[in-house]
Amino acid sequence: MALKLAVLKEERAEETRVAASPETVKKFAKLGFAIGIEPSAGAKAGFVDAIYQKAGAQLATDDFIKTADIVLSVQAPPLPRLKTLKKGAILIAQLAPYQNQDLLRACAEYGIDALAMELMPRITRAQSMDVLSSQSNLAGYKAVLDAASVYERALPMMMTAAGTIAPARIFIMGAGVAGLQAIATAKRLGAIVSATDVRKAAAEQVESLGADFIMVETDENESGETKAGYAQEMSESYQKKQAELIADHIATQNIVICTALIPGRPAPELISQAMVERMQAGSVIVDLAAEQGGNCSLSKAGDIITHKGVTIIAHHNVAGRLAASASELYARNLYHFVEGFFDKETGGFITDWDDEIIANIGLTHNGAIIHPAFKQTLEQDGGAH
Ligand code: NAI
Repeated sequence: MALKLAVLKEERAEETRVAASPETVKKFAKLGFAIGIEPSAGAKAGFVDAIYQKAGAQLATDDFIKTADIVLSVQAPPLPRLKTLKKGAILIAQLAPYQNQDLLRACAEYGIDALAMELMPRITRAQSMDVLSSQSNLAGYKAVLDAASVYERALPMMMTAAGTIAPARIFIMGAGVAGLQAIATAKRLGAIVSATDVRKAAAEQVESLGADFIMVETDENESGETKAGYAQEMSESYQKKQAELIADHIATQNIVICTALIPGRPAPELISQAMVERMQAGSVIVDLAAEQGGNCSLSKAGDIITHKGVTIIAHHNVAGRLAASASELYARNLYHFVEGFFDKETGGFITDWDDEIIANIGLTHNGAIIHPAFKQTLEQDGGAH
């Protein structure tokens, strides 16, 4: 019998994305899945129900969802919803397990196998399934547009009969996926771009995009990164040197885009109130790290504030501000994952729970928490509330 795959409508008001696109529905149908999409699941991304139906999905009734083998969503469904899923259902979404441990316990208690897409390992085989990359890339692009839309001046140099407009100076903090896309976007818009990162390897990537790389000279660490390629938390003396270097640089910038993150830790605070106060009135800061605590001490997550003439933008879910593109890429990430673990011969899904990818993203299986990061601590303190 065909596996039943349900696509949920997101319940959080600020979530605009959807976990399947018409394109991925078509591909799932081709693999032989029965696909049910909750009515108006794609409405905020511009995908109306009829397009999904044309692509091969049915509109999912409650019964369809309750009996689905695989359930796709962008964010975790609320616990009462989770409870209605069938035992043994596989839930695939961005589950934020570090912030949402009740969900983990609930999945184990209800017998739901939960897979957290944001824990995807950065290995070659998993590149097409990497939701953090696909969403960060769009967020980096949109951050520059958000800044440009409130900045009261033009970004490129313009030589006109009335005189010359100087190009904007844009500084990107953190040159990972979002930061590199922000650099590329700012360059395309004609700004003078500079960037910083603690990872030495980022220098070459920044410079290859035509931006200046600014970094603390130190021999205390070799590369600034962990084996997994992420930033490591830097020592206090490094942070002090970095703050001095950045303070002088930021004072000369018109727009600062913050993207610096350290996995599993609060975002590093890189811009203090004093640094903001040294910027010219009319300058703009966009803090993409706001949801993890913010790179700027004045950022107010989910809000736009002005401090002494400097606008600080800290939207939630920046990728979701490009709902259609973000959904399309996220949906493709999910499709590549499901297709990769679907056995076309037997019609089975995930036959090997020891596979490197599954071992990284699997949170619960057969009624137990299996992820090493949560297993012991959570199982000791009991079931779902
Ligand atoms: P991220 O979102 O965790 O962090 C963003 C950036 O902030 C990183 O470049 C990080 O080094 C930087 N950062 C952290 N603390 C900082 C500080 N105090 N000051 C300045 N910058 C700071 O990183 P993301 O975007 O997920 O990328 C991490 C690495 O993984 C990069 O090297 C990226 O190229 C690599 N990557 C590899 C992939 C693969 O092999 N499949 C896929 C995607 C990314």
